[in-house]
Amino acid sequence: MANACLHKAGPLGLGVVSSKYDGLYVTCPWHGWEYNIETGSAPPGFPDQQALYEVKLEGENILISEKPIVKAHREHFNDPLLEDLIKLKYQTSEKSLNILGLSTTSMSPQLPRFSTSEDALQKSLTYAEEKYGAATKMVKLRDLEFRSCEGYYSQHSHACTWPCSITEMDPKDGMTEVYESMILWADIIIVSTPIRWGNASALYYKMPQRLNCVQNQITINNKILVKNKIASFIITGGQDNIQQVAGQMMCFFTDLGFTFPPFSFLGWSRGWTAEDMDKNVMQFKKSEYILRTSKELVDNCVEILTQIKNINMSNIHAPKPTRDDSLSAAIENSDMNI
Ligand code: FES
Repeated sequence: MANACLHKAGPLGLGVVSSKYDGLYVTCPWHGWEYNIETGSAPPGFPDQQALYEVKLEGENILISEKPIVKAHREHFNDPLLEDLIKLKYQTSEKSLNILGLSTTSMSPQLPRFSTSEDALQKSLTYAEEKYGAATKMVKLRDLEFRSCEGYYSQHSHACTWPCSITEMDPKDGMTEVYESMILWADIIIVSTPIRWGNASALYYKMPQRLNCVQNQITINNKILVKNKIASFIITGGQDNIQQVAGQMMCFFTDLGFTFPPFSFLGWSRGWTAEDMDKNVMQFKKSEYILRTSKELVDNCVEILTQIKNINMSNIHAPKPTRDDSLSAAIENSDMNI
């Protein structure tokens, strides 16, 4: 049977063989596709067929036919949203002003509470609609059920796919909405987070890890998915560390290709000794500063977007390492197909 998995050419020779369904199956070590090792067929119900070769034993030699005796067949399933993502059918236009708010605070749906980061984000979106006639969308990560990154990248850079391998397997996974809204729809994104122990929220970190597939397209295909898009941030906490959180977020989003306006984050905190958290929301709600800066953040984003929106980005390069830059690039790994 051919070694290259029909999915993304994972090395079936390194897969585990076990008895399941109607026979012995090998499981691809990259994302778990399975093939009957005698017939090359996918499990019952799936029409995929792996290529099979004729094998003869002659003395101590194992002879394998040059051409397959059964050809490979990969079935393509039509999922319109997945197709749009694969083909990068951008929903922006020369005149669009699509602003995506991504709220990353986490809270119990049974016990909703006031969120300062989300409230400031909503203020920004409302202002963008009223002042600029922007199309806005608020995506709350806590409403999306999505799996954590499962680290396929650590098997091989090509095992981290666009859209994410998890999304390919399960288009209903909640990150599909983020991929569509962030990569295809938005001109501007504003990401809001609370500060939790000096960092962005745990839910926030779950998202960038699943966005590795966007950055990885640069590494493996020299393809920049994010162009002419702006990112800004809203960071609120009872105590502090706004600048460290902003630095982390800016580092990540610049690596995806986003552009920042000057002064690209809004911060709210009340200092190290502010343990009277019961007064945090009270003070926040009264804050003229929040009212003003949630608007100024949008003004800055729109101002810079109008300048970069239609510039030709073909001369923009991602100064990132490729596989060929690796110190071991010249060493052949004979187990791999690519
Ligand atoms: S399951 Fe084999 S490469 Fe993805």
